[in-house]
Amino acid sequence: MTMSEDMYDSIEDAISGLFEGDSSGHDIHHTKRVHDTAIAIQAVEGGDLDVIRLASLLHDADDRKLFNTSNHSNARSIMNDHDIDPKIQEDVIHVISQISFKGKDTVTPDTLEGMIVQDADRLDAIGAIGIGRAFAYGGRAGRAMFDPKEHHKDDMTEEEYFSNEGTTINHFYEKLLLLKDLMNTDTAKSIAEHRHAFMEAFLKEFYDEWYGKDQANL
Ligand code: ADP
Ligand code: NI
Repeated sequence: MTMSEDMYDSIEDAISGLFEGDSSGHDIHHTKRVHDTAIAIQAVEGGDLDVIRLASLLHDADDRKLFNTSNHSNARSIMNDHDIDPKIQEDVIHVISQISFKGKDTVTPDTLEGMIVQDADRLDAIGAIGIGRAFAYGGRAGRAMFDPKEHHKDDMTEEEYFSNEGTTINHFYEKLLLLKDLMNTDTAKSIAEHRHAFMEAFLKEFYDEWYGKDQANL
C-alpha cells in the first residue's frame, strides 16, 4: 500500500483500538496531538515525513506502562497489516526505541526524525495539557497531588523513575520542568518557552492557594 491519507486513517483506527479504556494520558488524542505537532515541526526542520508520521502514531503502542509486549510487536503488527515497506518499518522502530523519557537514562535520538518525534511527545507533557495529563496519571495511580513533607528526587535512573511513587507535584520537578531545556530542535524550544512559563505560573498559584497566601490580606 502507498502512504495515502486513507492508510494513515486506518492506522489511527488500529491505535484507537489499542488504547480503548485507558485513562493514563496515553489515549488516541495524545497520539494525534503528537502526530500533528511533529508534522508542524517537520515543516520547519525537515526530515522524512512518513517516518515521522508513522513513529508519532505508533510511539506509545508498546509503552511498558500499558502493554506487556516485547520487541515493539504492536507497532510491527500494525505496520505489517498496512504493508509498510520493511526498510521504513525499521526506521520507524529505531525512532520509537529512542524517544522515551527515562530520567537520567534518557537518550538523545541519533536521527532528525527521532529528535522531532521526541520533541513533539515532550511538548504534549508540558503546558496546560501536560498539567492535565500529570494529574490524570497521578489520580489513576492513586497518588496524592502534593505533600509538603515529601521532597522530590533529582537525577533519577530509569528504574528509579519508573518505580517512583511520589506526588504529582513532584513529577513537575522530576520531569516536566526539565523538558524545556531538553528539546532537540529550535522549533520545539520556541513552543516550549510559553508552555514552561505557564507551568511555573501554575505552580506558584498552587502553592499560594495551598499555603493560604491568597487569603493573607482579607
Ligand atoms: P511518554 O509519552 O514520554 O512515554 P510517559 O509515559 O512517561 O511519557 O508519561 C505519560 C504522561 O503521564 C505524561 O504526561 C507524563 O508527564 C505523565 N506522567 C508520567 N509519570 C507520571 C507521574 N509519576 N506522575 C504524574 N504524571 C506522570
Ligand atoms: Ni507519548
